[in-house]
Formats: sequence, structure tokens, C-alpha cells
Amino acid sequence: MKTIRIRVGGQAPDVEADCETSLFAAMARAGIAWPVPCRNGTCRTCIARLLKGQVRYDIPWSGLSAEEKLEGYCLPCVALPMSDVVIAQA
Ligand code: FES
Repeated sequence: MKTIRIRVGGQAPDVEADCETSLFAAMARAGIAWPVPCRNGTCRTCIARLLKGQVRYDIPWSGLSAEEKLEGYCLPCVALPMSDVVIAQA
């Protein structure tokens, strides 16, 4: 499985992940704290700016509008990386 790198704004080093692991799960494994009360894509507390790269969602309802996705927001608790990504807190 391809290794994907996640860079979290202001944090170093990059986090290693794969395309089946949520951004949050990979960050948590690396010891990076991120607010994730619901962990299922509904509360929006974890919202982040996707500065680089692409993510996908396995759930049909990720709590983002189509416009927010186009504007570069993502929900790390349910976002699955499709490439190396850079995110920052929104
Ligand atoms: S933790 Fe609730 S939407 Fe991500």
C-alpha cells in the first residue's frame, strides 16, 4: 500500500498514512492533537483547510457542503487521503 504523507500546518515532522486511514487517525497515531468530538463527520468541530492534495469520503453525508469542499475545507475525522496532503486548522 502506498505511503502518503500528511503535513499539518505548524507541526513537524510529516505524518505517514495510507489511503484507508483517516487524516485524524494518522495524526493521532503520530501524537498530534486535533479536536474530534464526534469522529463521524457530523459535528464539524474538526474542520480544516486542505491546502494541498486530495481527500475522499466513504460516508455519503460528510458535514461539508459542495461549496465548502470546493473552497478547500475538509473534515479530518472522516477524510481519507488520496495523495500527500497539507492541512491547517480552519
Ligand atoms: S469530529 Fe465531528 S465532524 Fe469531525
